[in-house]
Amino acid sequence: MEDLTPDRKSLDPIEIASRDEIAALQFHRMKRTLKHAYENSPFYRQRFDEAGVNPEDLHTLADLAKFPFTYKQDLRDNYPFGMFAVPREQLTRIHASSGTTGKPTVVGYTKGDIDNWANLIARSIRASGGRPGDICHVAYGYGLFTGGLGAHYGAERLGCTVVPISGGMTERQVDLIQDFKPRIIMVTPSYMLSILDEFRRRGIDPRETSLQVGVFGAEPWTNKMREEIEQVFDMHAVDIYGLSEVMGPGVANECVETKDGLHIWEDHFYPEIIDPETGEVLPDGEMGELVFTTLTKEGLPMIRYRTRDLTRLLPGTARSMRRMEKITGRSDDMIILRGVNVFPTQVEEQILKVRELAPHFQIELTTGANRMDNMTVHCECLPETADQTARDAAAKMLAHHIKSVVGVSTKIVVHDPAGVARSEGKAKRVVDNRPKER
Ligand code: DLL
Repeated sequence: MEDLTPDRKSLDPIEIASRDEIAALQFHRMKRTLKHAYENSPFYRQRFDEAGVNPEDLHTLADLAKFPFTYKQDLRDNYPFGMFAVPREQLTRIHASSGTTGKPTVVGYTKGDIDNWANLIARSIRASGGRPGDICHVAYGYGLFTGGLGAHYGAERLGCTVVPISGGMTERQVDLIQDFKPRIIMVTPSYMLSILDEFRRRGIDPRETSLQVGVFGAEPWTNKMREEIEQVFDMHAVDIYGLSEVMGPGVANECVETKDGLHIWEDHFYPEIIDPETGEVLPDGEMGELVFTTLTKEGLPMIRYRTRDLTRLLPGTARSMRRMEKITGRSDDMIILRGVNVFPTQVEEQILKVRELAPHFQIELTTGANRMDNMTVHCECLPETADQTARDAAAKMLAHHIKSVVGVSTKIVVHDPAGVARSEGKAKRVVDNRPKER
């Protein structure tokens, strides 16, 4: 793979500024954001008043810990437009996340917010190894989901030629990759694997495609999965993170030259790691829940938003801005099986170690006759390992790996090739078939 380290002159100066400069900018912007939220959003005014805090109480960045958290439920309770800090007429765009239950979470952007977002995605694509003039195939879903349009505006901003194919229609994805020859693809890692299946079905060697950079995110994926994708496609696979409540994709991104965790674009988002139980702020380096305060957003400022994503903060490397470790999972996705915490990413890692298995999987939870929870891992064999002996051996090996590394006993079902449901966007990793009344 080619060395894609960007020219330092092409970076935004703040990406490589000193920590003092970054902190000074953060403090100035944080103060302004707290004031804006307090003065223009009745929701925040009430929250701050109830907690007995005022924007004037911020004297250092660490004082942010005095301010109350904001939760996803707050957005639901104020559905649809109750949390905005500008009159609705000043919003240029709305996005929303569907949510499996209840009302969707609605977010809004001013013209200035959309502009900052485009710049941050452009920065993220550049960090991933993309350059002006590249053809960029955007296979994140377009619509209320922030992935497609977020990526789109940023790729345009960088100066790319954008192919806005969106998710789905896998055969067409492959047609257009073959015909238009994009250098960059932006897609969820699980959908990239579905696209890979289609290449293989047609007998096309994925290493021969024009793709050199994949900007993968919107769901957890492991370093082991990165190795797999980089090897089969002969391309760089880089991680992009974000969430609609805070902006969308482009809150943090890995740098292609280091691939050692995601640099948080700290000039726009202030990260904290907290103990999810007590809410106490933890020092850099400790694992906990990621919390974000937006520093420039006008339409929907977010003060100490509880992401539920679990990670830790690390010092900057390729850029001065701090990194977050690749996300292990969300606290909501954590399975507690007979007292052991299990994340789907841990299962992914073990599946990728077994050569006979394809990288697709789903975890099913059921309750046994003894009222104990059981976990079944549904995975599939490769076409060349479809005979029963190979499958049995693979199942045995996977059960052994999961037991010894993750610490739980699981049932393994090895399906035929293409036997596990495919993703066209975010993969659904856990199917909970346990009785509801518990
Ligand atoms: O998934 C935004 C996005 C689109 C990010 C495209 C990257 C690429 P939501 O639908 O609001 O927004 O979901 C946000 O997805 O809290 C994480 O749990 C998860 N997530 C997003 N990126 C990553 C990642 C978009 N790189 C939620 N690694 C977040 C792990 C991720 N999880």
